[in-house]
Amino acid sequence: MQKLLIATNNAGKVREFQELLKGLPYTLVTPKESGIKLEVEETGITYQENARIKAAAFVKASGLLTLADDSGLEVDALNGEPGIRSSRYAGEGAGDKERVDFLLNKLKNVPEKLRKGRFRCVIALARPDGRIDFCEGVCEGRINFTPRGSEGFGYDPIFYFTELNQTMAELPSEVKNQISHRARAAAKARLLLQDWASR
Ligand code: IMP
Repeated sequence: MQKLLIATNNAGKVREFQELLKGLPYTLVTPKESGIKLEVEETGITYQENARIKAAAFVKASGLLTLADDSGLEVDALNGEPGIRSSRYAGEGAGDKERVDFLLNKLKNVPEKLRKGRFRCVIALARPDGRIDFCEGVCEGRINFTPRGSEGFGYDPIFYFTELNQTMAELPSEVKNQISHRARAAAKARLLLQDWASR
């Protein structure tokens, strides 16, 4: 089976892609499994640019069909911040908990009805011949006042998915993987991957 490199060092993302791309005729491999050690600087100013930068660097280093995702949380009351800076929001070296606390602190005087936000994900699929395709997914919700739940990763404990009255971190992974930004982008990526495999 053809290999598909999941170009991320984020264990949470890898777990989700393994689930989201299940059943496709590809063997998913991580950079570590492929012996690739690459720190790519995300110098773009859009998700798409950053996804492209990551996918292009990894396809070049590996020669493998490569999937890279750039994603983030956009909070209306913060004019779309942290957005593409989501992973660096509380400074380099900070962990998920620090980032969550940092964001909650910024929103401490913001009332419930103004706490709308969304997760966005752009997947770049880079083929060894240089072609790159993009798939985008969005998930709307609001920022909770306190963290809840222990599933998922990143900002999941404070992202309240209004339709199910739970935070992303309270939802079992099977449910998150039906409604998340990444799930929606991956559903589109599946179609491309399926098409390429059948040629
Ligand atoms: P990047 O795509 O590697 O630049 O980082 C995206 C960052 O956005 C992650 O480190 C998380 O902080 C956040 N993020 C992206 N997707 C999710 C998600 O599904 N749940 C929670 N946080 C996420």
